[in-house]
Amino acid sequence: MEEKKVMLSGIKPSGDLTLGSYLGAIKHWKERADEFDCYYFMADLHAITVRQNPADLRRRTLEQLAQYIACGLDPEKNTLFIQSHVHEHAELGWVLNCYAMFGELSRMTQFKDKSAKNADNINGGLFTYPSLMAADILLYQPDYVPVGEDQKQHVELTRDIANRFNHIYGDVFKVPEPYIPKVGARIMSLANPEAKMSKSENDDPGRVTLMDKPEDIMRLFKRAITDCDACVRYDPENKKGISNLMTIYSCATGRTFAQIETEFAGQGYGSFKTAVGESVVELLRPIREEATRLIADKAYLQDVCRAGAQKAEYIAQKTLRKVYKKVGFVAK
Ligand code: TYM
Repeated sequence: MEEKKVMLSGIKPSGDLTLGSYLGAIKHWKERADEFDCYYFMADLHAITVRQNPADLRRRTLEQLAQYIACGLDPEKNTLFIQSHVHEHAELGWVLNCYAMFGELSRMTQFKDKSAKNADNINGGLFTYPSLMAADILLYQPDYVPVGEDQKQHVELTRDIANRFNHIYGDVFKVPEPYIPKVGARIMSLANPEAKMSKSENDDPGRVTLMDKPEDIMRLFKRAITDCDACVRYDPENKKGISNLMTIYSCATGRTFAQIETEFAGQGYGSFKTAVGESVVELLRPIREEATRLIADKAYLQDVCRAGAQKAEYIAQKTLRKVYKKVGFVAK
């Protein structure tokens, strides 16, 4: 039997999952479970590069697992786990630090952004974050890494690190491809269409979370920043707010931009914003309901992540053993 291709991705539990995390990433994970061998995790090691409240981090990590399952990731078909439960991530992360260059790490957009936002806490972890992310990925030898646009640079650096390592030691790592959706790879804040919708900054008044109530979602969409042109037309250069809403509507309903333009021709923005809000309410309703049910069942969530870590560890250990041997560490 031909071996299945491998897909892997992760999300930091640094805030509540947003519509952006869903449309840019999770939505594209769930359809692949039969075709691929899939690994998805909660990147808690990454979350602490920015100061977290420990109780919130613990709660959000399990809630994120519940939300993964509620989004359609069946734990029987997908390996779902918590990053810190598989210690090989931190270990390979260290090794890969020694193969990632200072200049490369300094050029990462996320490092520059986060350093600007957390000027009082520009820690070493924030800087070496991409080596840990490379370890997360390379441990499982995936073919594809499904992420939103903002993580593409990190996946590209992972490829560079893998190629560098392979060049020195032979074919140790599979060099993965980023898998970026054509529509929805960069959902913008409803309050500021110039900025990405972000889960980590709880102060973004334009973020929709997976657990938001219908009335809150409708309020956010009604207040969404647009322009004064009153024409529903896709033009991401000049009409950022409307183009963002069209992208969201397209993802939620499956309609093309041309169909959306026809549907709302001659109508003001009011009815369009209401329609987008309603489509998102319906998209998220089953997810919120199922996640709420699962969050109440901590024992089940613990079982899922324990079983997931066991499966993940088996593969991670194999890769790490090979790496340790190649670089010259003495076997235990
Ligand atoms: P994170 O936690 O910031 O985001 C998780 C995933 O959601 C996507 N995303 C978005 N897509 C579209 N529009 C948005 N507004 C939006 N916001 C977030 C992100 O692109 C990402 O795919 N470093 C990663 C986590 C990580 C990881 C990994 C990912 C750690 N190790 C290994 C893949 C493989 C991060 O911070 O993503």
